[in-house]
Order: sequence, then structure tokens, then C-alpha cells
Amino acid sequence: LSRDSFPGGFVFGTAASAYQVEGMANKAGRGPSIWDAFMRKPGFTADNSTADVAIDQYHRYPEDIDLMKKMNFDAYRFSISWSRIFPEGTGRVNWEGVAYYNRLINYMLKKGITPYANLYHYDLPEALEKKYLGLLNEQVIKDYADYADFCFKQFGDRVKNWMTFNEPRVVADAAYNSGFFPPERCSYPFGNCTAGNSATEPYIVAHNMILSHAAAVQRYREKYQKAQNGRIGILLDFVWFEPLTRGKLDNYAAQRARDFNVGWYIHPLTYGEYPRTMQEIVGDRLPKFTENQVKMVKDSYDFVGINQYTTVYISDPHYNGPQEYLSESNDWHAQIKYHKNGVLIGPKANSNWLYVVPWGMYKALMYIKERYGNPTVILSENGRDDPGNVTASVGVHDTARVDYYRSYLIQLKKAIDDGANVAGYFAWSMLDNFEWRSGFTCRFGLVYIDFKNNLARYPKMSAYWFKKLLTRSNN
Ligand code: GCO
Repeated sequence: LSRDSFPGGFVFGTAASAYQVEGMANKAGRGPSIWDAFMRKPGFTADNSTADVAIDQYHRYPEDIDLMKKMNFDAYRFSISWSRIFPEGTGRVNWEGVAYYNRLINYMLKKGITPYANLYHYDLPEALEKKYLGLLNEQVIKDYADYADFCFKQFGDRVKNWMTFNEPRVVADAAYNSGFFPPERCSYPFGNCTAGNSATEPYIVAHNMILSHAAAVQRYREKYQKAQNGRIGILLDFVWFEPLTRGKLDNYAAQRARDFNVGWYIHPLTYGEYPRTMQEIVGDRLPKFTENQVKMVKDSYDFVGINQYTTVYISDPHYNGPQEYLSESNDWHAQIKYHKNGVLIGPKANSNWLYVVPWGMYKALMYIKERYGNPTVILSENGRDDPGNVTASVGVHDTARVDYYRSYLIQLKKAIDDGANVAGYFAWSMLDNFEWRSGFTCRFGLVYIDFKNNLARYPKMSAYWFKKLLTRSNN
């Protein structure tokens, strides 16, 4: 496997998000996001950590980008923090925040690293949550489009690859159904859910995110795209759902799972309506697109980012073997399983949800190709973690991560060879960072961070593995 195994112009990069790496959460004029607000609750993260400092990329971006360059990467997928630009979500601009992203982007370009900018990675400005319940209110569509428009205007002369939302499915499910993510709205008796309605709110929020995405794309296409010569897409998480058996029931359950996950978004964005399965099962609780909205939503992407880490077996709940885990949403009604006949689907990484199943990436990519007209795909996240408490001397010998990347990239190449239109690949992540409610208890980086000692950066074996893979043959 080498760079030459992939098509000419294929882009290799790493991905991260603002809140997970920047730090300076309450500084330099940034307004709080819903994450900052919830972070103040004791026990909110597994290790009681916060992202106030994270890995201080706000100050250390030159060092980090130099490392990307050193490892021969072409691109960096970062995200812009909405509340660093508009501390109240709308209106007043924090020019210090704008200046930060200008420095970051300019430094990338100086070093020959192509910026891929994502506008939303879970971090809604808290002000909008307080003002009108954020994503639940359709006012967010205009406010988001104004924010996106501002970013296109400020940065679009240099940023040619835009992404509107990261994993809207996770937002809808984790923040409005299981209540695991802020604003912790759900009607189930777990967690600290205090408000919400899991039967309707995930669908409303998803609808508003889809319309926000489409409104931003419309602005980009009408006002900027031609002059700036860029492209725009969205980032969707896609766990591959493999039917447990060849039986009809399991097959249908797996199809439901795909439709209620990736299909929830890519189906309307491609065909202007929700998947048929969702329409049938969710019925009146599923919002409808008006005729005008259909026009806006359909074909509203130049590329689709697919975040692909893992695969699970899906069985129909009629299955009466040992139950491992029932899907978050009652509506898709399927059982998620990690074993088949007592055999694990793949070795487990550190995180409970992450099993190493390279062939699932191939199937996921071929599914997008076949069902959605072979769109341009960026494999926008892929990676595995180690426990947070490994020491630097152990952590840098990450042979399991090297194996992971090698085996997944082989499957990615196979999908390309079989006709999938994949244009780039981003590893998650360049550096260990803040893993949401898991805090710093897991490490996804190619570079080890010493959290006890000045956030020192130590490249792992996997970083050098990429360096070698990505060396150009004419170098
Ligand atoms: C995402 C992910 C990332 C995670 C990564 C590892 O939504 O893109 O949640 O932010 O850090 O997937 O779990």
C-alpha cells in the first residue's frame, strides 16, 4: 500500500473539531456553547475534565500543522466554533475569533496543507439554546445560514472545501433521544433528562438541521461558489449495519437501521424526501418538506463526508438469544449485536462502541455508491483509540492503530477499485484530544499528548507509518 495505490489527486488528511482541540473556551471573546454550559455539571465527563484548555491548539496550531506537514498529509479538516465568531449566536461579531481562524488558515496554506472547514461540530451557541431552544426552533435555520454566509465571506477566498454539519444523526439521537449529549433532552428515565420528547424532538431537530444545511448551501451557491471556486458538503456518520443472519427479518431490520441513520440525511439530500421506511414507521411525527423546501434540499451537496469507524450486527427484536443492546430509537426497532454464534464481530478498541471491522467500510462505501448515485465521497473520519491512561512510552508504540489504518485503507482502496467515487480520506485524529463525555479517557491521536506535562506532543508509530505511506514516489 502506498500513495500510488490511490487515484491521482486523492487527498489524505486528518480531522478534528474546534471544541475538542482549541481550548481558550471562555477566552478571547468566545461565547459559551451548549457544551460549555453542561460541562459545569459535576460528573458530566468521565474524568471530570473540561475542554477549557483541551490541547491548546488555539496557541499551538503552528506546531500541529508542522507535524501534519512532516507526516506528509495534504489536508486538515478542522471546525469553526460558531460562538467564537458570534458569541451570542447572531449579531455582534467577535473579531478576535475571526482573526484566529485567519491565522490558522493562513498558516495551513503557507505550509501547503489544504483547509477543509466544517461549520458545526455539536457546538451550538448557548445563547440560542436559551433564547429559543436552539435546534428545536426553525429560527435556527436563518441564524445558521447567516453564520455560514459570514464564514464564506470571510474565509472562502482561501477555504475551498466546506462542510455544514458534522453527524447530525448523532446530534438528533444523543442530544434529543438518549439525552447523553447537551442539551440532554429526552423522555427516557436515563441520565439527567429533565425535558423533551423522544418521540418527536429528534425528528424536528433533524429536519431543522437539514433545512439549515440546505439554506447555507443555497447561500454558498448563489453568492460565493462561482467566484470562490469551492465545493460544499455535509458529514454523516455511518456505522455499517450487517444483518445477523440471512433471514428476511434480520435483513429488513438492518435496512431499517441504515435508513434511520445515514438514510435519514442522505436520502432527503439526494432525493428530496425521507426514506420510505421512515415515512411508514414514523408517520405523522416525521416533519414534511414543503415543495419549496424539496427544491432546496434535493441535490444540496457537492460531496458527502462519511465518518466510518465500525460495524455491528443487526437482528430483528424477534430474535430471542441473549440481548446485548437495543437500538437507541424505539422506532427503528432493531437489536445491535457485537457477536455472532459467540464470535466477536472484530477485536474491540478501547471505546465500547468501537470494534475493528475493516470489511464494513467497504460495504458502507458500496452501499452509498449503489443507493445514492455514486456521489463524490470523502471518507471524513476513521480511527481507533487507546485508553487515556497509557504512558507516553507505551502510547507511542501503537501497533494496533497501525494495523487498523492499514486494514481499513486496503478496504477503502478495494471500494475505489470497484467504482466507488472516493476523493479523500481523513484519519481521526492527528492528536489525542477531548473526547466529549469521555473527556481524556481515550486517545485517538497519531500524536501522543502528555496532559501532565505541558501538553507535549510525541508522534506515535502510526504517525510515522502515515509519513512513509504518503511519501511521494518522485520525492
Ligand atoms: C464526530 C465524532 C468525533 C469523535 C470521534 C471519535 O462526531 O465526528 O464524535 O468528534 O471524537 O468520532 O469518537
